[in-house]
Amino acid sequence: MSHPLEPVEIQNHVFEPFIPKSEIKRAIHELADKINRDYQGKFVVVIGVLDGVIMVLAQLMKRLNVGVSMELVKLKSYDGFQSSGKVNMIFGLTSSLKGAEVLVVEDIIDSGLTLSHLLEELKKEKPASIEVVTLLLKKDSFKGQFPLKYVGIEIPNRFVVGFGMDFNGEGRQLPDIYALKEPENH
Ligand code: IMP
Ligand code: MG
Repeated sequence: MSHPLEPVEIQNHVFEPFIPKSEIKRAIHELADKINRDYQGKFVVVIGVLDGVIMVLAQLMKRLNVGVSMELVKLKSYDGFQSSGKVNMIFGLTSSLKGAEVLVVEDIIDSGLTLSHLLEELKKEKPASIEVVTLLLKKDSFKGQFPLKYVGIEIPNRFVVGFGMDFNGEGRQLPDIYALKEPENH
């Protein structure tokens, strides 16, 4: 029996248990199974968007039974709780994507701004196909024009930490996902 999760405090903000690891695991396995069916007999280039994706990527890749190579890119658009609106590619690809079946893997998609910039860059490389895989989607804040083929769990517009995702650099090591506690109504 596992103990019920307790809230955690990070930099004076309280985060309450939101998605337990069992549910995260189930969602990632479903994504992997779907990818395995869709890309059967093919080879995929998985592009993980650092830093938040590390845990999602590790769990997803272990479950894939198609040919896989991995690239990691690092972007940054967030400052604290808010998307800064600017996207910087900090470091990028090491091999050509020409003719490749590309899967861009994310931990969470909020506005979709980060990813729409990245997808535009990746399309210049002329891949055969490009699809997006994300563990979490904040459906109500998504403004992207691109299709989301592989979404694990849709969540309301709340700030989350854990399972690779951070608040100001902290909280990534948590095995479960927590959401910022909302003010109580009196
Ligand atoms: P977007 O450009 O608004 O879609 O933001 C995407 C990136 O911001 C994600 O890849 C995350 O790294 C980060 N992000 C968005 N929402 C959250 C959150 O609730 N917690 C932690 N990071 C987040
Ligand atoms: Mg991310």
